[in-house]
Amino acid sequence: MSKSFLDILHNSKHLFDSFFESYTQTLFSPKTRITEACLYSLQAGGKRVRPIFVLNSFFDPNDLPKNVSSLKDHSIFLASFAVECIHTYSLIHDDLPAMDDDDTRRGKPTCHKQFDEATAILAGDTLNSLSFYLLSMMEPADGLLIRDMIRILHQGAGMTGMILGQMEDIEEEKNPSATNQEVKLRSIHEKKTGALIESSFLLGNRLRSDWKERETLLSRYAKEIGLLFQITDDILDVEGNLEELGKTPGKDAKAGKLTYPSLFGMDKAKTLRTESVDKAIDLATQLPSLKNEFFLGLPKYIAERKN
Ligand code: IPE
Ligand code: IPE
Ligand code: MG
Ligand code: MG
Ligand code: MG
Repeated sequence: MSKSFLDILHNSKHLFDSFFESYTQTLFSPKTRITEACLYSLQAGGKRVRPIFVLNSFFDPNDLPKNVSSLKDHSIFLASFAVECIHTYSLIHDDLPAMDDDDTRRGKPTCHKQFDEATAILAGDTLNSLSFYLLSMMEPADGLLIRDMIRILHQGAGMTGMILGQMEDIEEEKNPSATNQEVKLRSIHEKKTGALIESSFLLGNRLRSDWKERETLLSRYAKEIGLLFQITDDILDVEGNLEELGKTPGKDAKAGKLTYPSLFGMDKAKTLRTESVDKAIDLATQLPSLKNEFFLGLPKYIAERKN
């Protein structure tokens, strides 16, 4: 019997959480100021959507393993943890005074508020390098596969992906474009948020034997989910509240950021969000192995989330 989207979401989050709990105990010992800062941000309570994307792009979402210990090869969990490390580092750095200057993240003081700026910079750096180390610990003997995994993660995280998007976001804030704002906005969102989300789907998929035949469509689906994710983030920044969001709302308007609501107005931003949901669902229906409760239910979940 097929499971509901929410069942799959909870099962995969539980799987990731149990791997994370056991793996980090030895990974982050001995305890130092830097391991404490890394763990503080990692454990602050993120939704773990990127690891969930990794897991469900590898397993059949209706046939997730019952627990981590039932698997001999933990490569898929190392890959999902690697993505969460990059993501958490991107949040720590995004919140720094030199970037978005935020005080609250995941419902807690941001890393630089809890510790200090230097520690937050170094914790971000630590999680960045750690993610590639985690990929190197994967079990497949196939060197080409590991090389592909490193390439996929770097593409999403590095100078053509998340980092470039963050650079464009900051440049746009300091020096707003006079023309082609729509193109600029899409470019920022596709890179700062979409690129790592795309990597998450492709990393899980790359560990499958039938990865090649799914890759093109999965990549199109993932790009749409990435855009949808950031359109929703922009809307939540206007409409959300601190308790639910776990981060301070209203920051984008204050900073003069180029966002979907600021460029199009709230009504049109919501129409574009709905169109993006429909596009993603349509893409998932085009490949039999993606036409399941997880891939079909995810767009609506992302659009309707409250944090
Ligand atoms: C927030 O990401 C940053 C964006 C890319 C919009 P999430 O909304 O996934 O944050 P957490 O991981 O749940 O805290
Ligand atoms: C975040 O964009 C993108 C990354 C962290 C890479 P935002 O700056 O909009 O994210 P929030 O709203 O602070 O989570
Ligand atoms: Mg930002
Ligand atoms: Mg921010
Ligand atoms: Mg935001």
